[in-house]
Amino acid sequence: MDGNGRWAEARGEPRTSGHRAGVDAVRSCVRACAERGIEALTVFAFSSENWRRPEVEVAALMSLFVEALDRELEELQQNRVRLSFIGNRHTLSVRLQQRIADAEAQTAHNDGLKFQVAVGYGGRWDIVEAARRLAARCASGALRADEIDEASFADALQLAGLPDPDLFIRTGGEHRISNFLLWNVAYAELHFTDCLWPDFGANELDAAIADFARRERRYGLTGAQARGEGGR
Ligand code: FPP
Repeated sequence: MDGNGRWAEARGEPRTSGHRAGVDAVRSCVRACAERGIEALTVFAFSSENWRRPEVEVAALMSLFVEALDRELEELQQNRVRLSFIGNRHTLSVRLQQRIADAEAQTAHNDGLKFQVAVGYGGRWDIVEAARRLAARCASGALRADEIDEASFADALQLAGLPDPDLFIRTGGEHRISNFLLWNVAYAELHFTDCLWPDFGANELDAAIADFARRERRYGLTGAQARGEGGR
């Protein structure tokens, strides 16, 4: 969700007002995904590298997460959204960890959109954590090293149990993955837009989905094979 800072600076406002507008865009996007019957949405709200931002900006973002959880939970419940967080939650304040645990428990049985918010998340961290978890199971004798395969590795990652993302959207004009869901996006279609995150709404989402619909997903096959036209 890139571009909050530039959106605010262009209006002569502090960067934090861009993050506030960013929360409004998250709300619109969650509503639009729920209306379109999308199964899962994962947003990158705060990376493991974002801790190095100025202290005041980090503090403002952390307060914003607590505030947004308090304010949005009711609508998420009404829309049967299942909310969960991915990332290294031990790096978060106890207050935020408690809000997260409460929100996850309250929405755990919802059967609508699966909405994941990545906070304190890094794709490499996720992979290393999964390796550690599997190594611990090997050390305890619960798992043999030769039993580790792509499926069991994926089950040890933060997005365990969710399908791999089909579509990866990055706003704000950058053409990078920047350490987001590195394992899971192996076959995702990448959509980059100059739109700054606070301006991202249902129309931008529909444009990304239309772009996705024009792609041919081949998974290593030839074009003819992928289209089911046989071919050798
Ligand atoms: C990147 O834009 C954005 C962030 C580091 C924060 C994203 C957080 C939100 C949109 C709030 C989400 C809240 C919830 C509850 C999910 P940037 O600041 O790097 O913008 P810039 O590239 O213009 O500087």
